[in-house]
Amino acid sequence: MIQHMINNHDKVVTRGLRDVAAAETKISFVDPLGTLYYLGYNIDALVEHVCYEEVVYLILYGKLPTKNELDELRSQLISEMQLPEAIVNSIKSFPLTSHPMEVLRTEVSHLSMYDPDPDYTSEQANRRRAIRLVAKVPTIVSTLHRLRTNQQLVAPSDEFGFPEHFLYLFRGKPADSEEKESIDRFMTLHADHGFNASTFAARVTASTNSDMYSAVTCAVGTLKGPLHGGASEKVMYMLDDINTEAEVEDYIQGMLDDQKKIMGFGHRVYRAEDPRTKHLREIAENLCHRTNTLNLYNLCIRIENVVHEKKKIFPNVDFYAAVTLNALGVPFEFFTPFFASSRVSGWTAHVMEQYKDAVLLRPSSRYVGEYGRPFVPIEKR
Ligand SMILES: CC(C)(COP(=O)(O)OP(=O)(O)OC[C@H]1O[C@@H](n2cnc3c(N)ncnc32)[C@H](O)[C@@H]1OP(=O)(O)O)[C@@H](O)C(=O)NCCC(=O)NCCS
Repeated sequence: MIQHMINNHDKVVTRGLRDVAAAETKISFVDPLGTLYYLGYNIDALVEHVCYEEVVYLILYGKLPTKNELDELRSQLISEMQLPEAIVNSIKSFPLTSHPMEVLRTEVSHLSMYDPDPDYTSEQANRRRAIRLVAKVPTIVSTLHRLRTNQQLVAPSDEFGFPEHFLYLFRGKPADSEEKESIDRFMTLHADHGFNASTFAARVTASTNSDMYSAVTCAVGTLKGPLHGGASEKVMYMLDDINTEAEVEDYIQGMLDDQKKIMGFGHRVYRAEDPRTKHLREIAENLCHRTNTLNLYNLCIRIENVVHEKKKIFPNVDFYAAVTLNALGVPFEFFTPFFASSRVSGWTAHVMEQYKDAVLLRPSSRYVGEYGRPFVPIEKR
């Protein structure tokens, strides 16, 4: 007993698991100096030269596809976008007050009951499952939005590429070429990001040999939090709160004085600017030009400067992602579901990698509670 207590107190706690490498991965590398790689490819090159479906292929198969492989994946994705009727009916049944991330979390879990090959756990079956999830998560999000706004559901068609398809199902009208490029780049930039909290949650679940739907359900729940993907929605509420550039300084100072976090800023890993920010800033600027909302873009630049002056921190992926989605006509509460609709490719790839690693992720803790408390029966407490 005494020996156990000594061992317990010797344990070193790494608060927040900061810098702890919990497993090896080949899927992505987040370089603190400000570079992001998917399977060894710099994200800057990918976002310029490949489409989101190529990124999905890269992440799920470990290599860039040939033209035929890409065509095949694209048609698989489009045909898998259709939801079982029970899922559509279930989405209709949720209270209007429920957050889209709550609905998404529930419906990803629900989808597992309609898996066509639930007993298969081979790599091929899991890859089919991954493609199914990559295809169906955006449809759940779009279906919810259409139903909530009393609009007709739009059937998937093979006329469009996958990201523009998502936007089409969501908004009910085809995207123009600039919108198409914007959503494609948005999804590419959100596809994977090392051992972020939601990916780690997915891997912990997969490490118990639980199924992929359970792992992705945990990931959706983890992404929802405002310290992770939930930040993008909060960014927009902040931007709504600040009316002019002249108000920025006082607003930010007020937040800092109240010890509040500025949403869309700071990062656990990057010590330089998040490499995704420059791309999203550019997309946001172009879209704001079109929608005549450059005042919003200029407000963002002012916030960036003030926050950097005061805290020496940079905007992260969520800051300009929020402005981008807003300019694409996506309501605030659907920002995090759009993030999830892209990150599901990374989550499913990590789940498969974790199955291969075949080790239970189960850390230890340092017990700081009491020992040997005298037991008192309930009637005497
Ligand atoms: C992402 C986040 C959780 C990382 O937290 P973390 O790893 O604990 O942050 P760090 O340890 O690097 O913070 C360093 C310093 O910057 C401050 N800081 C970090 N992010 C900040 C923010 N968004 N607003 C204000 N201050 C912030 C910290 O309080 C700390 O200050 P201190 O040294 O005076 O104590 C944090 O930056 C945050 O909450 N950001 C806002 C939410 C968000 O945008 N999330 C999306 C992430 S992609």
